[in-house]
Amino acid sequence: MSTTFTINGQPYTVNLSDLPPDITLNTFIREHAQLTATKFMCLEGGCGACVCAVSDGKSTWTVNSCLKLLNTCAQLEIITCEGLGNQLSGYHPIQKRLAKMNGTQCGFCSPGFVMNMYGLMEQHGGRVTMEELENSFGGNICRCTGYRPILDAMKSFAVDSDIEVPKECMDIEDLNLKARNCGKTGKACKGSCRQTKLIYEDGSQWYWPNTLTELFEALDNIPDTDEFMMVGGNTAHGVYRRSPDIKHFIDLSGVEDLHQYSSERDKLTLGANLSLTDTMDILRNTSKQSGFEYLEVLCNHIDLVANVPVRNSGTLAGNICTKKQHPEFPSDIFISFEALDVQVIAIKDAHEEQEMSLEEFLGDPERKILLKAFILPSYPKDKYIYDSYKIMPRAQNAHAYVNAGFLLELDSDSKVKSARICFGGIRPDFIHAIDIEQLMIGHSPYESNLVEQTFAKLESLFKPDEVLPDASPAYRSKLACGLLYKFLLKHAPDAEVNGKFKSGGELLQRPLSSGLQLFQTQKQTYPVTQAVQKLEGMIQCSGEATYMNDVLTTSNSVYCAFVGATKVGATIDQIDASDALQHPGVVAFYTAKDIPGTNTFCEPSFGYEAEEIFCSGLVRYSEQPVGVVVALTADQAQRAARLVRVSYSNPSSDFKLMPTLKDVFSSETRDPSRILPLAISKLQQIKFSDKPDLEVRGIFEMGLQYHFTMEPQTTIIIPFEDGLKVFSATQWIDQTQSVIAHTLQMKAKDVQLQVRRLGGGYGCKISRGNQVACAAALAAHKLNRPVRFVQTLESMMDCNGKRWACRSEYQCHVKVNGRIVGLSNDFYEDAGWNANESPVQGHSTYTAANCYEFTDSNFKLSGHAVLTDAPSSTWCRAPGSVEGIAMMENIIEHVAFEIQKDPAEVRLANISKKSKMATLLPEFLKTREYYSRKKEVDTFNANNRWKKRGLGLSVMNFPVIYIGQFPATVTIYHVDGTVVVTHGGIEMGQGMNTKIAQVAAYTLGIDLSYVKVESSDTINGANSMVTGYAIGSESVCYAVRKICETLNARLKPVRKAKASWVETVEAANAQLINLIASDHYKTGDMQNYHVLGLALSEVEMDVLTGNILIKRVDILEDAGESLSPWIDVGQVEGAFVMGLGYWLSELLIYEGDNGRLLTNRTWNYKPLGAKDIPIDFRVELVHNPRPSGSGFMGSKATGEPPCCLAVSVIFALQQALQSARQDAGLPREWLRLGAPTTPETLLLNAGHQVAEFKLK
Ligand SMILES: Cc1cc2nc3c(=O)[nH]c(=O)nc-3n(C[C@H](O)[C@H](O)[C@H](O)COP(=O)(O)OP(=O)(O)OC[C@H]3O[C@@H](n4cnc5c(N)ncnc54)[C@H](O)[C@@H]3O)c2cc1C
Ligand code: FES
Ligand code: FES
Repeated sequence: MSTTFTINGQPYTVNLSDLPPDITLNTFIREHAQLTATKFMCLEGGCGACVCAVSDGKSTWTVNSCLKLLNTCAQLEIITCEGLGNQLSGYHPIQKRLAKMNGTQCGFCSPGFVMNMYGLMEQHGGRVTMEELENSFGGNICRCTGYRPILDAMKSFAVDSDIEVPKECMDIEDLNLKARNCGKTGKACKGSCRQTKLIYEDGSQWYWPNTLTELFEALDNIPDTDEFMMVGGNTAHGVYRRSPDIKHFIDLSGVEDLHQYSSERDKLTLGANLSLTDTMDILRNTSKQSGFEYLEVLCNHIDLVANVPVRNSGTLAGNICTKKQHPEFPSDIFISFEALDVQVIAIKDAHEEQEMSLEEFLGDPERKILLKAFILPSYPKDKYIYDSYKIMPRAQNAHAYVNAGFLLELDSDSKVKSARICFGGIRPDFIHAIDIEQLMIGHSPYESNLVEQTFAKLESLFKPDEVLPDASPAYRSKLACGLLYKFLLKHAPDAEVNGKFKSGGELLQRPLSSGLQLFQTQKQTYPVTQAVQKLEGMIQCSGEATYMNDVLTTSNSVYCAFVGATKVGATIDQIDASDALQHPGVVAFYTAKDIPGTNTFCEPSFGYEAEEIFCSGLVRYSEQPVGVVVALTADQAQRAARLVRVSYSNPSSDFKLMPTLKDVFSSETRDPSRILPLAISKLQQIKFSDKPDLEVRGIFEMGLQYHFTMEPQTTIIIPFEDGLKVFSATQWIDQTQSVIAHTLQMKAKDVQLQVRRLGGGYGCKISRGNQVACAAALAAHKLNRPVRFVQTLESMMDCNGKRWACRSEYQCHVKVNGRIVGLSNDFYEDAGWNANESPVQGHSTYTAANCYEFTDSNFKLSGHAVLTDAPSSTWCRAPGSVEGIAMMENIIEHVAFEIQKDPAEVRLANISKKSKMATLLPEFLKTREYYSRKKEVDTFNANNRWKKRGLGLSVMNFPVIYIGQFPATVTIYHVDGTVVVTHGGIEMGQGMNTKIAQVAAYTLGIDLSYVKVESSDTINGANSMVTGYAIGSESVCYAVRKICETLNARLKPVRKAKASWVETVEAANAQLINLIASDHYKTGDMQNYHVLGLALSEVEMDVLTGNILIKRVDILEDAGESLSPWIDVGQVEGAFVMGLGYWLSELLIYEGDNGRLLTNRTWNYKPLGAKDIPIDFRVELVHNPRPSGSGFMGSKATGEPPCCLAVSVIFALQQALQSARQDAGLPREWLRLGAPTTPETLLLNAGHQVAEFKLK
């Protein structure tokens, strides 16, 4: 059976039975249509990389192509980013603005952002407000930019926009809002060309019913033992993976009855499979009718479910049925509907409709029950009060810790006639707080007695279950109580509520965000120092820029998936892949035994301890790869990988599993074999002063952080003649080439790498990606066919090391003026199972004193690596420095707290008068109005019991140390004078190529448009140092300037005074002058230097939920003379926001008894989103040319240092919490906040008791 749709206007007629029954639109677009602008990463609707638009001729909407099944695409027009605009047909205004307004760095997320924006504009006829836009990107993660420039670019299209747009992209008229036509007929699609049934070779069946009768015929056909699915939007797969055994798929989209709605005076009936987006539109409109005003609250609640593309496809019934199948699912639709006593219409065969309550529906054991509709009653606002809540770890696109819906019916005396008090996220069998519902009847809800009794009882009713990785029962029950209290505070008449409590009734209100970017440029060195657009910005925003997985291979390519070991500490006995090899499509399975050379993906000759590609004996961590399955599709490889059986010999009896640093430190006796002293102070014993004014001791803990690159670990290998062509997402081509060669016992000359760009690196592609690269190379070598290996998100999070977690145990003596006279800091960093890539003796040590003045005798620093049963930890943006600077800044803050002095004053008391920071800090405090804002914070805190604010400062002294060598080649073409640069660095979003092009253009004296930077490879970039440590850009710029000077010297004899560049080049060519030159940068060519920075963060916290707003952040960073200010501002903003995620939301939880990572998906690991960033985000680059000789042309690195400033946010939170605790009557005590400080940490440290909740 064939189906027809169009992609970017091109018709596709596809024989569905030739493809897997559950193939996604994403796989089809990328692998069959070979259009690569649409990316993928999470494959679960949580990252936005795969977003594209679809149109049925009537309307256009966005979908996550990773979830949309191809078999539901008949007659649709699919629009991808390259179809929206490209070099040939011209770029779309959205693409142009995003590129021009600095909204793309690595670019991997950019097509998804563009398409999400396009869909919004189409959906709303081009009329969208700034607020609507800012609210609509919750499903798009960007790890590079910090979102500010993306939001600015998007908001510039809003009807109420006040955002300044560069004049080059003001051509809004070609926004291309017209609806597209049906691919089959060439006219608006009427939806009439549908098929009804398809039977696949493997017995799978698809049905496309048009009526309820056809739907039930299909259901009747399904044998009782077969698994089936009624396909709404297939988005539940993003939460709970669809069973691979499903044999029958029934597409519900053609059944009109399921998509209708009707409103009467006393009820609104919603078709069960209305999408959440359509539902929101209906609710918004119906809320204008009397009796239905409450629907606005419901609509706002649904706005917090998932994200725009998921809501465009996901349906009400799909959500409720997910709850039916998984009672623990904290469904927002369920909790809201249950509080509203929504009834369902269900059908068990084509004729028997039944009206029942939601609880009855969830409990109904019938397998083939269809949800037809939902009935929402009217609730006149003079008789009913309704509100609902959802509290999550970040502002959007996260499931609830706890959600709740409360409906009170009041009689004519304003007494409660009936109450529905519902909570989700407590435990599967807890929905109604029945005792409280009964208690309320007959009372005014705000009566002090009732309030007292309610909160005396409520907490004990919950008994939340304890299921990791969910938040703790203590948090969830306290939060749930806080929500009911919030409800009462909000709805009680003002006279009934203490003025200080009133603001507790509101959730945090986030206004529109904005930013300010200040920098200076030097016209005389243009284009160096000029604020130019990123070189590849335009093709990144159109999706034409290619990444490793966009390299096309021949149709005989195969795909890989790792098989993971599960028994940590045990030794592998046997690996049985017989079942996996029987699985359809599986081509091969390889283990350590198949490796012809060395079984390590870390090169010992590069200073690494060997780490096995495939575990051959002792299992070091959960999911450690033991082998690789190779199959015809990625899905087949992943499914087959689960069929491989591994048997183990038992671990030795003294083995105690300790996957985290906390496990090592909480064990009764610290196992000394796990603690490696790597940086031991020369000072044997610190001599503290005999009479300190105060002694301060403490412990400070920071967790792991996953890099969360939007581009997964990816390698494509193509056997070519007698060698391998390798396209690997690596930050270090030299090492990747070396490990592949050694794995396969090949010569380096036969392993040639090419890397065009990475979709983000942040350190995780320095060596960790080599495991995928070596496995793929092995498969290609054995099979002699192209191999593609894109690691899944779960596998990456399970197998790849993270930022080193860190624990600092400190003790210091302090004078009353804040001066620290003696400090000892023992710090311990989580190495994972070995100490490769240790920052302990490097940047953690270099930065541990930060800007402060110590002597050899009053500062004792001892650093240790701690071995845990987890993947070997790795470099992660500003590795070691984030920890080093945070440890010291935490000590300063703690000291200030204990001596009750302002933390800024304590910093000043400890900064050397000779340091530039001694002048920068007072100036910063003055210009950012630190003291007056601090007073405002104090006043706010004094007037508000349940909302608290804080102002946190941090300063930074970041050392930049040059190492290694970076080669480059510059070629000038005589044809037209254009120039190509290739080099050994890696462009991964940091803008290296833009800076290089600027330097080449400046040195050669030509326009920037002449210069192109080509892919990095192991010929021109042979023997190159890793691109990391923030030194890559400057090092390659140095090499390129040297080369251009050589070329200038060669051109000098033919340069004529009035000759143009092209004429000069032509003349040189005529004289056979070599127009290709190579050279390199090497250690010693530039002097090391320091980067200074300051940040001031202001936060507001909701004491009752633990949620926060970052109200304002000011950053001042000494960027020297920025080579490319937009690039550098982008680096500062992005690095800071990545740091904020570390301190606030990125929580990794391991299961104690098996060492499994429980937070390995977008569903439960939460980097910050667009609505979590500072509301007012101000960045200033200090213009500060350095003395010649150090660094490059006076510039300084920006990619890593600002990450270290984000710690300021937890100092602000400390202040907010202290005020809450003081109000709660607790003694003054320093709180151990660390990374991450989540809403749970905040609420549980706020000090209040539920029994205290009162209105007056
Ligand atoms: C990234 C992400 C974030 C999310 N966040 C949230 C959140 O914060 N809160 C929340 O509540 N939800 C959340 N969800 C869940 C989301 O709301 C559901 O995935 C969606 O509503 C399911 O609808 P669907 O049509 O795609 O269902 P499908 O995936 O198509 O189907 C799900 C199940 O429902 C059954 N089904 C569908 N229609 C019917 C019917 N008419 N009768 C009987 N059975 C039927 C199917 O057989 C299937 O078993 C999130 C989902 C994703 C992907
Ligand atoms: S890949 Fe589809 S949302 Fe992440
Ligand atoms: S630019 Fe957004 S993830 Fe890199």
